Amino acid sequence: MAQKHDIAVLPGDGIGPEVMIEALKVLDLVEKEYDVTFVRTFGNLGGVAIDEEGKALPQTTIDLCRASEAVLLGSVGGPKWEHLPPMEQPERGGLLPLRKLFGLYANLRPAIIFPSLVEASVLKKEIIGDGMDILVIRELTGGLYMSQPKGIEGTAPDREGIDTLRYSEAEIKRIGHVAFQAAMKRQKKLTSVDKANVLASSVLWREIMISLSAEYPEVELSHMYVDNASMQLVRNPKQFDVLLTENMFGDILSDEASALTGSLGMVPSASLAEGSFGVYEPAGGTAPDIAGQGIANPIAQVLSMALMLRFSFNMIEAADRVDAAVEKALEAGYRTGDIFFGNPGEKKVSTSAMGDAIAANF
Ligand code: IPM
Ligand code: MG
Repeated sequence: MAQKHDIAVLPGDGIGPEVMIEALKVLDLVEKEYDVTFVRTFGNLGGVAIDEEGKALPQTTIDLCRASEAVLLGSVGGPKWEHLPPMEQPERGGLLPLRKLFGLYANLRPAIIFPSLVEASVLKKEIIGDGMDILVIRELTGGLYMSQPKGIEGTAPDREGIDTLRYSEAEIKRIGHVAFQAAMKRQKKLTSVDKANVLASSVLWREIMISLSAEYPEVELSHMYVDNASMQLVRNPKQFDVLLTENMFGDILSDEASALTGSLGMVPSASLAEGSFGVYEPAGGTAPDIAGQGIANPIAQVLSMALMLRFSFNMIEAADRVDAAVEKALEAGYRTGDIFFGNPGEKKVSTSAMGDAIAANF
């Protein structure tokens, strides 16, 4: 009997809905090829949820995600909701509580420069060579984003804004294992990024990482301060294989790493809980400036779907095939505007034509 999986589909705001269509188009082919059905239930998260259900993370969406094995997410946010109180906005009222509620502690953001897109990178060809492949792993439910105490205290003009950076040994171990295990499947090099020359949480982080490394003798563990890491990423990104870091540092470094790939529209992400549940979304955001025009790059959404196959459903071969189909579409010259340079052989195409090209190469 064909396998059946329940997934939640939350297209979100901005370009989310239009790139989601393309990811689902490719998922249709996976279903046919692998005799599996993904029962897709649509829900609202972010701005669209505020508009339709009055809250960025409505109870209906929480229930839907609870009833699902994985969540395929577009992206959330946009200028339309920026006037709302911060805690009600799509990001702080929708995305961050979703991460916390479902324990999505491990955020994986692969920043890959495909050989055919070396030119799209912001870096010079001498530095990039024939490509780059870095996996940024960001701790996603602790650290500076989530620790208590947090808030604005006192009365003006003497108020204080407070954020706390706190990590328990258990939290560090949990994400540390994810990083070592990912490194084992790759080049076996792990760079743990911290600020141990200043922050106590980083001193503990480094100590725990060193103690974990005894369990992974094959992995070469190194440590780097975050300021140096941000510089090394633009100077010599090819030295990195897996890069592990705290929530806030990871937010910053993952954007930097994705700029190296040439476009934010290329970088997918997986946010994983313990077990097989995960939320899969492009790292790039809602791009409100181009939303609704049919020109957004759907690749990050398609690759996010592939990460879902890989991590939530253990469909490694199917995931590899989706990744390869993206690469083949790029090799064949298909380019959305963000990665189009007008070189011979390049064809500037719409969101849906890029989805078609990927599907045709699956
Ligand atoms: C990301 C985003 C979010 C974050 C925002 C939208 C809250 O930048 O996923 O990297 O800061 O985590
Ligand atoms: Mg970010």
